[in-house]
Amino acid sequence: MSRFARRCAALLCAVSIGATAQDFGDTPYVQTPQVVVDAMLETANVGRNDYVIDLGSGDGRMVITAARQYGARGFGVDLDKRLVALANANARKAGVADRARFYARDLFATDLSPASVITIYLLPEVNLMNRARILALKPGTRVVSHDYGMGDWQPDVEFEMDAPGKSVGRNQRSKVLYWVVPDRMAGRWVWTFAGEGRKHAIELLLRQNYQKLESSATLDGRALPVESATMSGTRLDVVLNLPGAGRVSFSGTRINQALDGEMVAAGVKSPWSAVRTEIIDPVHVNAPPPVIREFVQ
Ligand SMILES: C[S@@+](CC[C@H](N)C(=O)[O-])C[C@H]1O[C@@H](n2cnc3c(N)ncnc32)[C@H](O)[C@@H]1O
Repeated sequence: MSRFARRCAALLCAVSIGATAQDFGDTPYVQTPQVVVDAMLETANVGRNDYVIDLGSGDGRMVITAARQYGARGFGVDLDKRLVALANANARKAGVADRARFYARDLFATDLSPASVITIYLLPEVNLMNRARILALKPGTRVVSHDYGMGDWQPDVEFEMDAPGKSVGRNQRSKVLYWVVPDRMAGRWVWTFAGEGRKHAIELLLRQNYQKLESSATLDGRALPVESATMSGTRLDVVLNLPGAGRVSFSGTRINQALDGEMVAAGVKSPWSAVRTEIIDPVHVNAPPPVIREFVQ
């Protein structure tokens, strides 16, 4: 997409966000109310080890708050040089200029790989243009968005809240949407389980669309219902109902073709590991690129 088309998208951002959007020179701009900034950073569980990148950083409030309140580091980018200067001045005033920096840069030309948290308040179309890049980031990277989603990539958390002082919209309400970049967990996972005096072979087949899993399992070759199978980043949590043992939970982190973690049976924790014998591509990896709606005025 051309720089011009992207600038149209940026313009559309403010136009569609609302007629009362503050126009900060040639790059339109709408602020996230501070209570919503706080809720977004809380939802993403931002802490001192985090590196926050704000795409379209406005006056810098997202990264400045992350640095001042949560001890994080990071940077923001914005096309508008005056907003970038304002954000850097605000960071100096807040005493966090060493940890919160702002650059005049196109977000599409920005390397996102240092981020542990990405914050956005952009149009859904712009979010979609970024989606493939975000999904290619390190699994476990957290993403939090004000008001707009990522097409068919459903958020892990979504809620609405009061947004007093919001300069756009009718009801002074905002949505917060939160995702964790999913690992590639799909495939056939196998392990053994000791029960009733012998070892049992467990096979778990996982299919994956974004972070949503479809699962089936066998115990010694016979179908076994899966009570639940969920993932977040590189972590997998599975609950099986095993004959003689009852509900057993298995939780692990993926490293290459192994899952390492612990199992809990009858309240007793013990180490657990599984091996992947077959890899299946997640459905979303092969999905066609999202359709971008043309901007027609
Ligand atoms: C809705 S405002 C959000 C500002 C700030 N993040 C906040 O939440 O208060 C969107 C910002 O994105 C910037 N923007 C839009 N398209 C951009 C692009 N391609 N690269 C960098 N910044 C962009 C605009 O200049 C504007 O400041």
